[in-house]
Amino acid sequence: MDHNQQHETSHKPIKRKEMTRRQFLSYTLGGATAFMAGGAILPMLRFAVDPLLQKKAATPFVKVVEETKVTAEPQKIDFKIHQVDGWYESDPKLQAFVAKDDAGKIFALSPVCKHLGCTISWGGEEAPNLYHCPCHGARYTKDGKQLKVAPKPLDEYEVKVENGWVYLGPLEANTRVK
Ligand code: FES
Repeated sequence: MDHNQQHETSHKPIKRKEMTRRQFLSYTLGGATAFMAGGAILPMLRFAVDPLLQKKAATPFVKVVEETKVTAEPQKIDFKIHQVDGWYESDPKLQAFVAKDDAGKIFALSPVCKHLGCTISWGGEEAPNLYHCPCHGARYTKDGKQLKVAPKPLDEYEVKVENGWVYLGPLEANTRVK
């Protein structure tokens, strides 16, 4: 390399990578399209998952029986609740044994056996003054205390009495027995 050539090379401006017109257009159009698509898709996405983001409403109390009709003898009552779970709404049928205790206080127990979930019955010749389960012979007292087979007492509904009517709320662990 002679002196002139060397001189030329050292002063050659560094060639910057410049964006071509084609690249500029495709970036701009691509960005604008993504922005517009986002604007259209995000509200749809929000709409689709919205029920999942909603806080689950607490189980409401349901009016089930007139206060005057409740006796010391447990009675099986059928009732329905309205449930909303995400997009799915349902009205499952439930049952409760509603009775008055010795102090006249109304309480309600779940009829679902704590052994393996069969439906229990009250009284009869088989087990006078006890709840009994037809599946494996569990027995419970009127307060729901387990006497045999079942490992735990019957669950209890929250109860509210208002204007002469008994309302049942969510199920909870039995508060009447230890
Ligand atoms: S399910 Fe009730 S005793 Fe087994």
